[in-house]
Amino acid sequence: MTHPSALAIVLAAGKGTRMKSALPKVLHRIAGLPMLAHVLRAAHAAGIGRSSVVVGPGMDEVGQAALAIDPKLQVFVQPEQLGTADAVKAAAPVYEGFAGHVLVLYGDTPLLRTETLKVVLGELDAGADVVVIGFEADDPTGYGRLLFDSHGRLAGIREEKDATAAERALAICNSGIMAFRTSETLASLIGQIGNDNAKGEFYLTDAVALARKAELQARVVLSNPEEVLGVNARAELATAEAVMQRRLRNAVMAGGATLVAPDTVFFSHDTQVGQDVVIEPNVVIGPGVTIDDGATILGFCHIENATIGPGATVGPFARLRPGAALAKNSKVGNFVEIKQSEIAEGAKINHLTYIGNTSVGPGANVGAGTITCNYDGFAKHKTEIGAGAFIGSNTSLVAPVKIGDGAYVGSGSVITKDVPADALSVARPPQETRESWAAKVRARRTRDKSK
Ligand code: UD1
Ligand code: CA
Repeated sequence: MTHPSALAIVLAAGKGTRMKSALPKVLHRIAGLPMLAHVLRAAHAAGIGRSSVVVGPGMDEVGQAALAIDPKLQVFVQPEQLGTADAVKAAAPVYEGFAGHVLVLYGDTPLLRTETLKVVLGELDAGADVVVIGFEADDPTGYGRLLFDSHGRLAGIREEKDATAAERALAICNSGIMAFRTSETLASLIGQIGNDNAKGEFYLTDAVALARKAELQARVVLSNPEEVLGVNARAELATAEAVMQRRLRNAVMAGGATLVAPDTVFFSHDTQVGQDVVIEPNVVIGPGVTIDDGATILGFCHIENATIGPGATVGPFARLRPGAALAKNSKVGNFVEIKQSEIAEGAKINHLTYIGNTSVGPGANVGAGTITCNYDGFAKHKTEIGAGAFIGSNTSLVAPVKIGDGAYVGSGSVITKDVPADALSVARPPQETRESWAAKVRARRTRDKSK
């Protein structure tokens, strides 16, 4: 069942001081995507039709980032951080009178999966009034503990600071993610929440005990601990990144690609990898990369915002920068850097080369040590290399310049003028040879030395 009328409220008003960063916590990235975007994306993929984000004062950057992800989303400011219930209240204009389920998510739990949100929605559909995502913690320190009655039903949540020793010994913890069957349920429960507790905060978690008091049904959906990991500091950011990378690698392999050493290959949230792609060890892939069927990425490559066509080969030790577009069966070899260039079908650029702002025609061969001199200190200029052209090794192509179809450029040339199709251009000092020069000099110097 989809829930176009369900609403997600994402709490992100926390300052995230433990990150020790100029960047708001929820904008730190996992697999190249801000944590907040991961959460919004999971909600959207679960069929939740509307989202809103609660930020703190002066966190415009977060609001803007949220709107960039979903322009229909509403951003609310919680003026003072008086607790999670108070944060939800800041979003009252969006949920009051809203007809549908309301979910409260945290902006710093980027690993939450769509499947789990769907289970939560299913529980609400099946009649639960309040649903909490719980997990069994190896170390429950710092988390709220779930309390159950003698029938095993969820009875309440106790924050650690308010818990008795016996309650602290309980292992099932609150992930923080809570859902309400209707906005009326949420509004009525939240209206009753006070701040008479150890922290003097308005705890959203009190909604569970209040629901039970009102004879409403409260249920738990258990998730694995990893999925609800809250990122508070850099070490947890790294842990979350590792989990996300494992998921991405598994998805790529499930899609029919070979990763020779999966733990050494890094993907972005949006990397597209086709079937029968082989990726060797130690490859880093940034955002915006597509690798088509049957392509091979040899070891130690760095690739971002680039497309790699079917059957193409890249590396080892190649760098594909933004705008590199490699067509079918093209070849980019070791120590080659390509930026903002189209490499047509079957073209080869095998060694030690820089290609920027260039189009390389089908079947062209660019020799070792070729440099496109595309930048004059002020602007970038274009180089065109025609179909089947041959660029000799150690050539500089000073852009703007065109090498015609089938043309040859002699090794060591500095090409500043266009080369017509099928011509040969050589632009280097002619070779001068003096017969017997070395032998004569050697004989004279040997004579002088023995005097
Ligand atoms: C909360 C839960 C706890 C749970 C834990 C899971 C409450 C009272 N406690 O505790 O049961 O085990 O999360 O990680 O809910 N926020 C605001 N405004 C506020 C306060 C918080 O927007 O005034 C946001 C924070 O940015 C964060 C989230 O709410 O995204 C949780 O707040 P935090 O203070 O970290 O709660 P915990 O003490 O960790
Ligand atoms: Ca927290």
